[in-house]
Amino acid sequence: MTRIFSGVKPTGHLTLGNYLGAVRRWVEVDQDRADALFSIVDLHALTVEHDPARVRRLSRQAATLLLAAGLDPERCTVFVQSHVDEHARLSYLLECTASDGEMRRMIQYKEKAARARAAGESVRLSLLTYPVLMAADILAYRSDEVPVGDDQAQHVELTRDLAARFNQRYGHVFTVPRATHPEVAARVMDLQDPTSKMGKSHETGAGIVYLLDDADVIRRKVMRAVTDSGQDVEYDREGRPGPANLLEILSACERGNPEALAGVYESYGALKKDTAEAVVELLRPLRERHAELAADPSYVDEVLRAGAERARAMARPLVDRAYEAIGLLPVG
Ligand code: TYM
Repeated sequence: MTRIFSGVKPTGHLTLGNYLGAVRRWVEVDQDRADALFSIVDLHALTVEHDPARVRRLSRQAATLLLAAGLDPERCTVFVQSHVDEHARLSYLLECTASDGEMRRMIQYKEKAARARAAGESVRLSLLTYPVLMAADILAYRSDEVPVGDDQAQHVELTRDLAARFNQRYGHVFTVPRATHPEVAARVMDLQDPTSKMGKSHETGAGIVYLLDDADVIRRKVMRAVTDSGQDVEYDREGRPGPANLLEILSACERGNPEALAGVYESYGALKKDTAEAVVELLRPLRERHAELAADPSYVDEVLRAGAERARAMARPLVDRAYEAIGLLPVG
């Protein structure tokens, strides 16, 4: 059976980008057609300045949201990365497989390191090695597919290189995985700055729709989205990123096609209004279910406990094999 792995890192509240780019497909497609694991990858949240209490809170919230979105612990494995030692264990072996040059070429590293330096902060070494830990997340489960948004494509490419290199040097241990992306909304852009990705954190949050925003906040954010001075509605990602982003969001909500939708609208006002309502309706059940689940944290705890146990049992034998293959003496 196809094995799928993906994850979300608790560095901020989950966004519409996370949902449309990744989580919705995990729920609607992946958990039913494959043996799938979805992780709250909390170790990755420590690669930038962080507040321990906030990471804990966001990890629990992310787990609750994934369940609220429809991940079903009977059909897939949901767990917290740090509960399974194998990720960190394997990461070290992959650090011994990767070169520093290839790590320094990672776009996300370059961008985040530049931002940290500009803010006068030091850059944690783990920010550089982050994609190696991500490769370990994926390879520890012999994953075939990794459903992610566009921004993770380079990291999955690196994972493939590391898997192939390790196999070539030390014998076949790892499956070489491939990334899968949604057809639309693989990169949802910030509503205030449609040339950058809608990320989890931004100073004001005005261009980011969070999954737990209430309906009026969503309406306000979408109605204030930056467009351009054009008179007609046209789908042109490069030339007209603001309207194109709205068209993608709306078509993702309605399962349509952004080019076809562009022809339906004569003004940005109408496009924004319909987009706002579509997002409100898309997220309404999720918010309601989140409130129910948040009232019963012991249920979420139990899901995560059982998930970690399952994940551990899957990863352990493979990581043991990798330790042996690379030349480490097995425990007697
Ligand atoms: P993270 O937490 O930034 O995002 C989680 C998922 O959401 C997707 N995504 C988006 N998709 C479309 N538009 C956006 N604006 C948008 N923002 C985020 C991401 O592509 C991702 O699929 N490094 C990963 C977490 C990770 C991981 C892994 C993923 C760690 N180990 C192993 C897959 C497999 C990350 O930072 O995702």
